[in-house]
Amino acid sequence: MDSLNVHTLERRPDLFEGLEKVHEGSFPNYVIEGDRHNAEYWDRVLRDFPSLQFVLCDERENVQASGHALPLAWDGTVENLPSGYDGALVRGFGERRHPPNTLCALAVIVAKSHRGKGLSSRAVSAMKQLAQEHGFSRLIAPVRPNRKSLYPLTPMERYIRWRQEDGAPFDPWLRVHWKLGAQFLKVASNSMEVRGSVADWEKWTGMRFPESGEYVVPGALTPVAINREKDEGIYLDPNVWMAYRL
Ligand SMILES: CC(C)(COP(=O)(O)OP(=O)(O)OC[C@H]1O[C@@H](n2cnc3c(N)ncnc32)[C@H](O)[C@@H]1OP(=O)(O)O)[C@@H](O)C(=O)NCCC(=O)NCCS
Repeated sequence: MDSLNVHTLERRPDLFEGLEKVHEGSFPNYVIEGDRHNAEYWDRVLRDFPSLQFVLCDERENVQASGHALPLAWDGTVENLPSGYDGALVRGFGERRHPPNTLCALAVIVAKSHRGKGLSSRAVSAMKQLAQEHGFSRLIAPVRPNRKSLYPLTPMERYIRWRQEDGAPFDPWLRVHWKLGAQFLKVASNSMEVRGSVADWEKWTGMRFPESGEYVVPGALTPVAINREKDEGIYLDPNVWMAYRL
């Protein structure tokens, strides 16, 4: 594997364009457009905390992966975890009753052309190192298991117990964190809330929803609830809280 350099957006704002290219098509568009917390806060994550947003670049400065995180206050108990991704954004940008002591991962994205080469663990390791350099005692992550969309009818509580023969988690992305020493804390059932009209959902998924009910849609980890009478579709993206001690 090429040698890779880690650059933060604070030091290298010129790499922003490369970062945006890595993001293209990496998540279902309904997650990007239909989660109001994401829509409200994402630009601020990049703008307010550039020293915690980073890219992995090859020697020719091609961006191959990016990592994103924000600081928040957490007392170390499962009960005090934010509800999930949305809750982390709200806590990170909300009223600061306690000083931030924890770095919360929001995303790690590997460019489509560079997936399957082990870059994801290098990105997580870079994030751990950044967290340490900034003096955080913990790194937590609302992890979005990347194979779960193939099993949308299996409850997350059961899915996370699936193992390979060697005892490691079945899900590749959960496995990356587990191998790097993260501990499972709990399932975040409502990590991201995505709402849209029926027309929005038809545009986002390329499907038709002729009647109210639950639908399996591409990229979703659980079914989407469509209510034609209310002209609304609601999707709750379930994630898994994991934590690293630094
Ligand atoms: C999830 C993601 C970061 C993983 O990065 P990656 O470069 O594809 O994965 P890696 O090469 O680092 O491999 C990680 C594990 O996944 C496995 N893996 C990689 N590609 C795979 C594939 N196509 N099918 C099954 N497993 C695969 C690897 O074998 C490895 O597990 P192992 O070493 O324990 O066997 C990447 O796919 C991605 O950016 N996805 C879109 C954004 C996203 O979902 N990010 C995570 C949520 S924030």
